[in-house]
Amino acid sequence: MTPAPDTSPTTDEVTTREILTTDLPTADATRDAGRALGRILRAGDVVVLVGELGAGKTTLTQGLADGLGVRGPITSPTFVLSRVHPSTVGGPDLVHVDAYRLGGAAELEDIDLDTTVPTSVTVVEWGEGMAEQLADSWLVVDLVRRTGADALEDAAPGETGGADADVDDGALAEAEDEALAEDQDDPRSIRIVGVGPRWQDAPPLEV
Ligand SMILES: Nc1ncnc2c1ncn2[C@@H]1O[C@H](COP(=O)(O)OP(=O)(O)OP(=O)(O)O)[C@@H](O)[C@H]1O
Ligand SMILES: [Mg+2]
Repeated sequence: MTPAPDTSPTTDEVTTREILTTDLPTADATRDAGRALGRILRAGDVVVLVGELGAGKTTLTQGLADGLGVRGPITSPTFVLSRVHPSTVGGPDLVHVDAYRLGGAAELEDIDLDTTVPTSVTVVEWGEGMAEQLADSWLVVDLVRRTGADALEDAAPGETGGADADVDDGALAEAEDEALAEDQDDPRSIRIVGVGPRWQDAPPLEV
């Protein structure tokens, strides 16, 4: 078969666009970023939240809900896979999905998001590799928490030569324990990337 000549400037490659990269020193900063994002979202938008346990996905969704203008509260649904938060401002509803317990794309299909996606803003925690099938464009929000060990490295750079005699192994271990215990409050960073035509010309997000 002779391939058709490629006259169109578009390819099969999906376009991606940087929307936001910034540090989030506190949970409130995470909510603020979510709020800024919520203000630019519209019906049909799909947001995939990526990040380890406790990274701040639900916290971000709380701000997003506020920016979008939907009824709360946004909680971490333990047994509920998907919850609809109606708009209070005549805009799209928020469909908040926690895919943590979903077995995969097939089960995501079972909760029938297809019917709500076009008219709602759909936010999926743990949705990487699943939610992408819901629309031809989506946002990937990556929340990264610096681990206790990382934080410790930053706090005590270059502790390898033993020049600082006052920092012994015991003190280091203690500091490490402390850092791990305080993981919950570790600062986060966020990166939002838009995938597909919806985000192709989107301006960067101001927070
Ligand atoms: N930027 C931040 N700095 C410090 N703490 C934060 C930050 N963002 C969120 N947190 C805190 O992290 C904790 C976990 O947040 P959250 O429940 O939103 O995470 P999650 O990613 O939804 O977790 P899960 O994986 O269980 O769904 C909360 O106590 C929240 O206040
Ligand atoms: Mg959560």
